[in-house]
Parts: sequence; structure tokens; C-alpha cells
Amino acid sequence: MTTPRISLKERERLLRAAGIDPHRIPEHVAIIMDGNGRWAKRRGEARVFGHAHGVESVRNVVEAALECGVRVVTLYAFSTENWNRPKEEVDALMDLLVKTLVDEAVELGSKGVRLRAIGDLTSLPQACQEELERAKKGPEGEVLLDVVLALSYSAKWEMVEAIRQIMREGLSPEQVLPSTIDKHLQTADLPDPELMIRTSGEHRISNFMLWQLAYAEFHFTSVLWPDFRKKHFMDAIRDFQHRERRFGALPNPNHGR
Ligand code: IPE
Ligand code: IPE
Ligand code: MG
Repeated sequence: MTTPRISLKERERLLRAAGIDPHRIPEHVAIIMDGNGRWAKRRGEARVFGHAHGVESVRNVVEAALECGVRVVTLYAFSTENWNRPKEEVDALMDLLVKTLVDEAVELGSKGVRLRAIGDLTSLPQACQEELERAKKGPEGEVLLDVVLALSYSAKWEMVEAIRQIMREGLSPEQVLPSTIDKHLQTADLPDPELMIRTSGEHRISNFMLWQLAYAEFHFTSVLWPDFRKKHFMDAIRDFQHRERRFGALPNPNHGR
């Protein structure tokens, strides 16, 4: 079902009622969707069962991001290191990806969502690459939310690719600035995430956006990814809004007053 788009005023009212400041919404939220295997194991099922149930959580995140007015959500869906998992699991994940893209593309477009992917996409099966290409077209009207899937992605891979490209362009060492790196990463046209969420109780970054998360706020939750719902996303936004972002400056004496 398509959620009717609501007016800005109505959205602000709803957010305030939920204890969220509509004027301090992070523009970009990055998520490490973790815990599918453990979720399935607890139910005596194969790991793939957990991955399949994770799709509903993605739907919830898309809805929540649209409601909050978040502009970009990056979802870590498959890491470079995940290729080391058993072939059956990798194949099942790739099939699930294709199926989800096929099933959800129209609905996402109608909601103003544009899909794209970052990572070593050429390493993905042909069918995945084709569906990702198709999904990239985006909605007919205004883009309200960009959903970026990190697939066959790792930050170290991305950085090596960026450095290689910089060297090919023949820049001198003095010409290389932080902004040069920014421009050569896969996320060149995206703002850095202000908030990173990781589910499943793990407190690590697992080779995800090492450069772009330099000043992000981290929200860790023990909720396993297939159980992650809109309310958990809202909890993360509220947690973010209680943080004092300092960027190396002195604490603000008025924070939290
Ligand atoms: C996250 O869940 C999904 C992927 C990494 C593809 P996991 O599959 O890592 O599940 P756990 O962490 O083993 O429970
Ligand atoms: C990180 O989860 C990768 C994704 C969520 C796609 P992992 O489950 O692969 O990470 P580790 O092995 O616990 O660090
Ligand atoms: Mg995991």
C-alpha cells in the first residue's frame, strides 16, 4: 500500500508529538543491518530465513526515513568479506536481492524513493546488476529519499579504488587534499552520514564507510535486524538529537539545558 504524502506542517506536528525535533533531522543515516543469522538460529531456521525477514525491516526504515524527512539512507547489505561465506548463503542473498528489487521497485518509485548502489558492483551476478541498473531510474516526480545499497562494499576497497584513480589522474602529492579523497569515493555526491546505526549488539564498524563516518554519531542497539521497526529508527533519531556534536571544539555549556 502506498502511504499518502503528508504536508510539511502535518509532518512537523507528528514528529514533535513523537519527541523529535523536525529541524534537527540527520540528512544521511547509514545502517549496518546485522543479526539475521542469529535471528533465524533462535527460531531453529536456516540463516537465509533471517535474511528474508530482514526485507520487512528495510521497508520500515524507508517509511520512517520518509516520515522524518531524512534525505539519504545507506544500507550495508553485503560486504567484500561476506563473499567468504558458504556459497549457498551467498547465492540465496543474491537471489533475495534480485527478487526484492523486482518486487519493490514500483512501490518505492511511487513513494519518491530512488535506489542506487555503491561497491564493487561488477562482482555481482548479472541479474543483480541488471535490476540495480533498472532501479536507478528513480521516481517520475520529486526524489524525496535516496536509498543507497552498499553491495560487495568495503571501505578499504573503496579507498584503494579512490587512490588508484587519483594516481591515474597524475595529481602531485601536494594537490591531494581531504576534498580530493571525498570526490573520488563512491559517495562523492552524497553528504557524509551524521548518524550510523548498527543492530544486533555488535560494537564495530566492519569495514564500513571508514572515511565518511569520521564525525558521525553512532547508535548501537541489541535489536536483531529482522526485528528492527520504525520505532527503533525513531529511537535512533531521538538518541542522535540528544548528542552534542563538537567537531573538536569545546563543549557547549548550554547543551542539555
Ligand atoms: C547481516 O546479518 C546480513 C549480512 C551480513 C549479509 P548476518 O548474516 O551477519 O547475521 P549474524 O550477524 O550472523 O547474526
Ligand atoms: C557487516 O556485518 C556487513 C553487513 C551488515 C553487510 P557482518 O556480520 O559481516 O560483520 P562482522 O563479521 O560481524 O564484523
Ligand atoms: Mg553479522
